[in-house]
Amino acid sequence: MTTSTAPVLLDAIDRPVTDENRPLLEMSHVEKYFGDLHVLKDINLKVTKGEVLVIIGPSGSGKSTLCRTINRLETIDSGTITIDGVPLPEEGKQLTKLRAEVGMVFQSFNLFSHKTILDNVTLAPRKVRGLSKAAAEKEAMELLARVGVDSQANKLPAQLSGGQQQRVAIARSLAMHPKVMLFDEPTSALDPEMINEVLDVMVDLAKQGMTMIVVTHEMGFARQAANRVVFMADGEILEDGTPEEFFTHTKTDRAKDFLSKILDH
Ligand SMILES: Nc1ncnc2c1ncn2[C@@H]1O[C@H](COP(=O)(O)OP(=O)(O)OP(=O)(O)O)[C@@H](O)[C@H]1O
Ligand SMILES: [Mg+2]
Repeated sequence: MTTSTAPVLLDAIDRPVTDENRPLLEMSHVEKYFGDLHVLKDINLKVTKGEVLVIIGPSGSGKSTLCRTINRLETIDSGTITIDGVPLPEEGKQLTKLRAEVGMVFQSFNLFSHKTILDNVTLAPRKVRGLSKAAAEKEAMELLARVGVDSQANKLPAQLSGGQQQRVAIARSLAMHPKVMLFDEPTSALDPEMINEVLDVMVDLAKQGMTMIVVTHEMGFARQAANRVVFMADGEILEDGTPEEFFTHTKTDRAKDFLSKILDH
């Protein structure tokens, strides 16, 4: 780490490194349309290293689209997105590298159904990070133990519960050593009794300093683990503050209305 405030070029791809509070993700004036539909409207968002940002908002407000632009599963029409100071690459090797830096966990677990749990976790590290089979398996077993499913390593995904599969999906993302993890409603496809086992893993990750962006309706998680809550509606960020500010001093009627609906049931 440097004590200088001037950017210092540290590694081969000229990644600027300043201080530990630098934004890991910065979105500036991002606009996105699907045809005539304006889905992201002037999105400005900074997430610093170690920060846990929860995004909430009604269905169709653009939460998933926002996440998907961050690892370029969706292109944007204007504005800029940088990860750790580097603009999102258009394509090619740099894009593969970026995708490795941004872990993503979806509502559906997206595991390869015909591969064992262990193979699911070792596949990308072997292909993209170039690890040997033995090294990838050693690390995979450590990660599977960390999320509490190491005893399932030789099974196929269908032999695991939804909660276990989602924890495998988290371990698989972590195996790429991401700088930031995106979670898009990771518990909304789970039976209620499995939600907490996944949230517990996410809370642990947050405590260990992982930078996280989490789309969720789990307000308990937001209160417990988030540093910041962003409320989106109709493609716009309407509120951006601490959980305390958001839950106790909700500013907009739109967010008040949304909260009253989800906190009621
Ligand atoms: N590939 C696509 N093509 C066209 N329209 C899309 C596409 N993906 C999303 N949309 C539309 O963009 C808007 C934002 O969708 P998005 O999935 O980002 O919302 P969301 O906030 O994640 O909603 P939910 O809470 O239901 O997951 C919606 O109106 C949706 O129908
Ligand atoms: Mg969504």
